[in-house]
Amino acid sequence: MKTVVIINSKGGSGKSTLAVNLAANLALKGQNPAILDLDPQGSSMRWLQNRPADLPEIHGIAGYEKKSTMTRAWQLQPPEGTNPLIVDTPAGLDKNGLAATSRGADAILIPVMPSDIDIHAAVNCIADLLLTTKSDMTQRRIGIIANRVRANTRVYARLERFLRSLDIPLVATFRDSQNYTRSAELGIGINEMPLWQVRKDVGAWKELNSWLDSTLNDVTNVRALPTRMGLRAVPSAVAPISPIAN
Ligand SMILES: Nc1ncnc2c1ncn2[C@@H]1O[C@H](COP(=O)(O)OP(=O)(O)OP(=O)(O)O)[C@@H](O)[C@H]1O
Ligand SMILES: [Mg+2]
Repeated sequence: MKTVVIINSKGGSGKSTLAVNLAANLALKGQNPAILDLDPQGSSMRWLQNRPADLPEIHGIAGYEKKSTMTRAWQLQPPEGTNPLIVDTPAGLDKNGLAATSRGADAILIPVMPSDIDIHAAVNCIADLLLTTKSDMTQRRIGIIANRVRANTRVYARLERFLRSLDIPLVATFRDSQNYTRSAELGIGINEMPLWQVRKDVGAWKELNSWLDSTLNDVTNVRALPTRMGLRAVPSAVAPISPIAN
């Protein structure tokens, strides 16, 4: 099973929106994704609860819940046959939280809004991520999504420059669009809305799909299995995902 972690310490950058849309998009393509929601706000779980029964089912794991009746590893275990596991993480993660949630990830997606404050926070977040994991492999698995971008916005030129210097790709640019808020309320993904309505949004999703396909299937991108030790070392809300079979 592959794991896609969606991360950004900055609140409201679009992590949950990206997580649920990615899950819907992959389900529409015939895959069997699961969402692990580590954020006590439970946005992804709420979206799943609103999801119409006639659409492809997506399994959800409320990773923020503390269950005394089962081990943490068992609670976080996605059902057999699901792939990939998409992890929605909370805002405000510190270095340890970033390291814990991204450990074992096959791909790490960072949604960033194109404001100066958000870009500054993202730059710090990426720096923390790279410093704490201290691995070239991590860098090769990170992709940035510029989110809520209005036409002709050039604010994120600074982010682009920074990413280029680190060789981290700007994978896709999502428009600031009511389609995202509307689809979130309905428990559907943007790609499950009528094409005439989302015509301007689907291109970005093709770009994301293509990056994700090549990143998840990159045979040189082999990772070490996450250790169980990490499960005890971090707060339960940000425990890494373990065990994962390849
Ligand atoms: N591309 C977009 N266009 C319009 N609205 C968007 C877009 N992406 C996200 N939003 C809206 O922005 C708000 C924040 O998005 P979201 O909840 O996904 O962020 P988050 O990073 O998960 O937040 P938190 O850190 O609190 O978990 C939501 O109301 C969402 O509907
Ligand atoms: Mg969220």
